[in-house]
Amino acid sequence: MKVLVIGSGGREHAIAWKLAGESSVEKVFVAPGNGGTAAENKCVNVDIKYNDIPALLDFAKNNRIDLTVVGPEEPLSKGIADEFEKAGLAVFGPSKAGAEIEASKAFAKDVMKAAGIPTANYMKFTDFETAKAYVEEKGAPIVVKADGLAAGKGVTVAQTAEEAVTALKEIFIDGLFGESGSSVVIEDFMAGEEATYLALTDGKTILPLVISQDHKAVYDGDKGPNTGGMGAYTPAPVIKDDMFRRVTEEIAYPMIRELAKRKIIYKGIIYAGLMINGSDIKVVEFNCRFGDPECQVVLSRIKSGLTDAFKAATEGNLEKARLETSDDPAVCVVLTSGGYPKSYKNGYEITGIEQADKIEGIKVFHAGTKYSEDGRLLTSGGRVLCVTATAKDLKTAVDKAYGACNLIRFENMHYRRDIAAKAFKKH
Ligand code: GLY
Repeated sequence: MKVLVIGSGGREHAIAWKLAGESSVEKVFVAPGNGGTAAENKCVNVDIKYNDIPALLDFAKNNRIDLTVVGPEEPLSKGIADEFEKAGLAVFGPSKAGAEIEASKAFAKDVMKAAGIPTANYMKFTDFETAKAYVEEKGAPIVVKADGLAAGKGVTVAQTAEEAVTALKEIFIDGLFGESGSSVVIEDFMAGEEATYLALTDGKTILPLVISQDHKAVYDGDKGPNTGGMGAYTPAPVIKDDMFRRVTEEIAYPMIRELAKRKIIYKGIIYAGLMINGSDIKVVEFNCRFGDPECQVVLSRIKSGLTDAFKAATEGNLEKARLETSDDPAVCVVLTSGGYPKSYKNGYEITGIEQADKIEGIKVFHAGTKYSEDGRLLTSGGRVLCVTATAKDLKTAVDKAYGACNLIRFENMHYRRDIAAKAFKKH
């Protein structure tokens, strides 16, 4: 079987690595891939941008690709799955209409409301002055979200009204998120602890993966601006087994059924970002793809093959698919370029990955890396590497991940020192 994975982050390296490990998979093309996928067994990078849909389609047709897995949200929201399906190609990822659950916060809220899914109250605004007046009337804490796609960075949880107004100014006046900032959703603040629920779906059946927890803020103690994700771990004890079942029954199924009522047969990954407060579960957001870095830890625990399940989801018979998961926890620490998520420099040489990868239970997934012409591995993005560890218990996995991080060097490297710390507090 020949597979095409679209994207260039740590998530796509993890997907490509997982699929390449299956005996039925002969080759994994990654478009465009990164330094990690370039060196991964059975993987080949293809020099096509992740959002160049016509070129990706031509490549898939010309190379008789059996299955395409789309990593990031942008090509999905531009309709890549619709184009591949029209051409008779198997593609794992929702249609353009399905991807609206992530691409439009307002659409997602509307579907949630109709499906009776618990979430925060919200209002949508298309101009700065009205939004500012609303924030000043409501007061803080309050949540400001750019309505479109912003790579996880369009959300501000404001502790003061001034902070919320600054976020509105950045979106509406400074144009920080371009088109994605032409409208804004302002939500009530939700107290609690976040968790990530991921499931495969064919639009009828939900096949849940293990629960994980992301760390969005750039600094320890959840301080500083939001990033795409600074680290993750699984399992996340904030979600107990009975709650996990409730998420599937009361959130995931109602969501795909409400979408089906609207003639959207949602296929691919459904991601529910949850806020847990005691036994109360609310949805913070839906995404239309694997989380990054949640994908790295969740896939590290899957013992069975994934291609059959991906195929079953695309073919509409997911009820037949089974996945086997290891009980061993997994932790991922993201090594970033100092300055991310704001400005940072690329092109610094990275050393120490080989030594880190030699440690039993460690896998270093690449994100923003590339090889120079003279064969050196260089930084080429905000999130550079995702150091992922599995072990018999979470504490050992955390120690192992940080031990591996200590071996890796590049100029201005930054990472959080408290990944998974929340797992050790009383729940
Ligand atoms: N790590 C959060 C996300 O992928 O949206």
